[in-house]
Amino acid sequence: MCGIVAYLGNAKAQPILLEGLKRLEYRGYDSAGIAVLNSGAIKIKKTSGRIKCLEDILDKPDFNETLGIGHTRWATHGKPTTINAHPHIDHTGKIAIVHNGIIENYSALKQWLQKEGVEFKSETDSEVISNLIGYFYNKDTSEESAGQSKFEWAVQAALQQLHGTYGLAIICSDFPNVLIGAKKGSPLILGVGADEYIIASDASAIVGHTTRAIYLSDNETVTITHEGFQTKTIDNIKVEKVVKEIEFSLEQIEMGDFKHHMLKEIFEQPQSLSTCMSGRIDMIANKIKLGGIDSFFRDLTKTKRLIITACGTAYHAGLVGEFLFEQLGRIPTEVEYASEFRYRNPIIDDGTVVISISQSGETADTLAATEQAKERGATVLGIVNVVGSSIARTTDAGVYLHVGPEIGVASTKAFTAQVAVLTMIAIELGRRKHISDDQASRLLKQLFEIPEKIKPILDQSEAIKEIAAANINKENWLFLGRGFNYPVALEGALKLKEISYIHAEGLPAAEMKHGPIALIADNMPAVFIATKGPQYDKIMGNIEEVRARGGKTIVVATEGDEQIKRYADYLITVPDVPELLQPMLTVLPLQLLAYHAAVLRGHDVDKPRNLAKSVTVE
Ligand code: G6P
Repeated sequence: MCGIVAYLGNAKAQPILLEGLKRLEYRGYDSAGIAVLNSGAIKIKKTSGRIKCLEDILDKPDFNETLGIGHTRWATHGKPTTINAHPHIDHTGKIAIVHNGIIENYSALKQWLQKEGVEFKSETDSEVISNLIGYFYNKDTSEESAGQSKFEWAVQAALQQLHGTYGLAIICSDFPNVLIGAKKGSPLILGVGADEYIIASDASAIVGHTTRAIYLSDNETVTITHEGFQTKTIDNIKVEKVVKEIEFSLEQIEMGDFKHHMLKEIFEQPQSLSTCMSGRIDMIANKIKLGGIDSFFRDLTKTKRLIITACGTAYHAGLVGEFLFEQLGRIPTEVEYASEFRYRNPIIDDGTVVISISQSGETADTLAATEQAKERGATVLGIVNVVGSSIARTTDAGVYLHVGPEIGVASTKAFTAQVAVLTMIAIELGRRKHISDDQASRLLKQLFEIPEKIKPILDQSEAIKEIAAANINKENWLFLGRGFNYPVALEGALKLKEISYIHAEGLPAAEMKHGPIALIADNMPAVFIATKGPQYDKIMGNIEEVRARGGKTIVVATEGDEQIKRYADYLITVPDVPELLQPMLTVLPLQLLAYHAAVLRGHDVDKPRNLAKSVTVE
C-alpha cells in the first residue's frame, strides 16, 4: 500500500528512484512522483497514473542530483490526481516528504496549521507531515537539542504530534547531504551499500544495489549522510541496529520468460513448495522439524483452543488450517478475519494459541490482531513469508514460508506454502497426540511428494485458457467445494474477482440450495472441486442440481475418474492424493483459470484496479 524509495549516494538519484519505484509498483499504482535536490532547491515531478506516466515527464538525470525521494501511491485520502500524488512539499518549499501510511489526526493538525497561516494544496493526510515539519523547522529552535541538526529536530518534533502510521523519507533543501527516514506501523528498510544508501518500503527496491540492510522498528528515525547513518527513537535516543543480509536475489523478482509475475509465481509452485518444505520433513525420524517453533510444540500440543487470524488469501489458507488442526490435531480451531478479531473484544483463555498468517507480514489488520492477542496473554505464532517483517517480529515465534518474494498482487505461491506449513504443523501435532507412527509416516511421504504432483496440473494451462475463453462473457460465476476444498472454492472465487473483475461467489457446495441456486440459469459457470474423497458422492448430487437448472459445470476432478466425465461440461484433473492434502493441488487450476480470464479480458494481471499487494492501512 504505497511504495516509497529514497536515495543518497554518489550516483544520479533519478534513475535509481525510478528503478526502485518500478519494483515497488505492485504496492500501489494510481499516481507517482519523485523529488531530487539540485543546487539547494527541491525539484518535484509527479503525475497521476502509473510509473510509466512519470517516466514520460522526467527531465534528463543530472549529475548534481544525488539525493532524492520517490513514491508510488495507492490512494486513501484524496483522489489519485497529480496534486495529491507524492512527494509533498511544505509551504516554504524547503521540506519534501514521501509517505506510506495514514495520519489519523491529520484533520485537526491541518486546521491548526491553517490557523497558523499554512496553505495546503492537496486533499491528502500526508501533506500535513511536510507542513508540520516545515512549521517546526521555520520556528524558533531554542528547544533544539545540542548536537542535533535543525532538520532532524524538526522531523522529530513533528513525528511526536502524529497519530497513525507512517513510513517516511524526508529531504530538506538546506541539507543537501542528509536524508531522514522514519517508521511507525508501515514498513521501512534501509539498504546499506558501498557509499550509498537506499530507503525503501521493501527489499525489492534495494536488492539491485545491496543485500545489506537494517530494519527500522516503530517510532524510530534514521538520519543518513555520506559519512554513515544514525538510528534514533523519535525522542532522540540513539539506537544501535544490526546490519542484516537480505535473503532474496534480484533474479527472484525478475519475470524471466513469463508475461506476468502472477504466471511466473503460479508456475514456480513446484519449486517454491519444495523449498518451503525442504529440511523440515525428516523421513528417517518420521518427524517434522520447524526450528522457529520447536520449543512451542508443547504449548501447541496442550492447547485447548487455537485461533487463526489473517486476511484475504491468507485467511483462506487459515480455513484449510482449521480442517487440518481439528482432523489431525483434534484441537478446536477458529479462523477469524483479523479485521473482525481485533475489534471484537476476543476471548483469549489461558492456553489459547493464536496463529497469524500473512504473506507480507505487514497487513495492518493482521498486525493489530497479532498485537492484541499477545497483549491478552496468548502465545502467538506467525506463518509469514517476508523475513524481518512487522508481523514476524511481533509474534513469539514462527515459521517462514521461504517462497521468495511474491510480486503479483493476487497471492498464489504464498497460499500453497501457507497450507504446506499448516499441514506440517498439524501432522506433527497429530503425531504427538494420537495418530499412529505409520499414519504419520504415510502422510509425511505424501506431503513430500506434493510438489512433483503440480506439474501435470500446470501442463493443462492451455486447456484451462480455453475454458476461460469459452466463458469469458459471463459476469457471474460460482465456485463450490466441500470439506477441505470448501476454502479452495472461496480462494478460487477471490482470485477471479481480484484480477478479472468478474463477480464470483465461493460456497460450501451444499449451501447452494439455501439461496444461491436461485442464480443459476443461462449457462452460468459453476466451478466444482469434485475430487475423490469422503464427500465425492454428495458433490455429484450438487453438480446434478446445477446442470438441471442450465448451469455450465467446470469440474476439477481426480485423474482417472471416468464417472465424472458425464457430469462435467469442462474437466480439469489433479493427481490423486488424500483429501487433506488436496488444497495444495486443487487451487492451481483455479489460479490458472483466473489468470487466463483476466488476460483474455485485457486486464493488468499484476496490478489489478483498486488493489494493493500489501495493505498497510485498515
Ligand atoms: C491483499 C492482497 C491479497 C492478500 C491480502 C493479505 O489484499 O491483495 O492477495 O491475500 O492482502 O495479505 P498478507 O500479506 O497479509 O498475506
